[in-house]
Amino acid sequence: MKAQINGITLGYSDQGKGTPLVFLHAFPFNRTMWAAQEEDLSDAFRIITVDMRGHGESEAPFWRYSLEQYASDVTALLRHLRIDNAVFIGLSMGGYLSFTLYRLYPEFVLGFVLADTRAEADNPEQGKWRFELARRAAAQGPSAVVADMLPKLLSHQAYERRPDLVEQVKSIQEAATVPGILGDLRAMAERPDSTDMLRSIRVPTLVLVGEEDVLTPRADAERITAGIPEAILETIPDAGHMSNMERPETFNKAVRRFAAGIDRR
Ligand code: MLT
Repeated sequence: MKAQINGITLGYSDQGKGTPLVFLHAFPFNRTMWAAQEEDLSDAFRIITVDMRGHGESEAPFWRYSLEQYASDVTALLRHLRIDNAVFIGLSMGGYLSFTLYRLYPEFVLGFVLADTRAEADNPEQGKWRFELARRAAAQGPSAVVADMLPKLLSHQAYERRPDLVEQVKSIQEAATVPGILGDLRAMAERPDSTDMLRSIRVPTLVLVGEEDVLTPRADAERITAGIPEAILETIPDAGHMSNMERPETFNKAVRRFAAGIDRR
């Protein structure tokens, strides 16, 4: 489905009935990374998946990329769908976006699932890496991102035994646009540190992390859990950074149990 939001076309899907669960994708993915969640969880919940600007079926303008802009896009889409509040499930960049949503639009948030993400801002080394990756992606396109990131996204078992999954992850990354990649990299590089706001997050929160996540390891998830008063942490065994794609059964079970316990306002 498509909607005109903030002057551009956004791609999204909306399936099922019940408490709305809004899924926010990682960098440089699109909403198809949530296919297994959509299929499984739409029997009991209203599942919304969104393509951030620059990705999937959303338009890829050359400018106006920031986490604040993405938060505005997502909440404007929810208003368009007449959804007042929702549980947000963000993985990695989707988690950074979740913190931004809470900073700017807390009234929309019934609860969070923060998966394979971190609260800290970039350190100087990460900032430098993003700038260099943006330069390479501007010259070579998404293959620069695939070359850099694909070896870090899954568990070692997946690289050995699941070529189909490796191929799926690769092809989603390859579909990213250059404006989307550069926009995300700059948006993430400029994001503020969210550590201090953790204690102000007063909604039920489930923190998930793949046991073998090397990009946002378990220690990052532990710090989020320690900071948010109502947070609980679950580790997904035999999974790397893209834990929802690698272990959908475990991921979905955790989300289902958590979301079933959330009261709608
Ligand atoms: C992601 O998976 O969204 C990215 O790895 C996040 C990041 O680069 O910090």
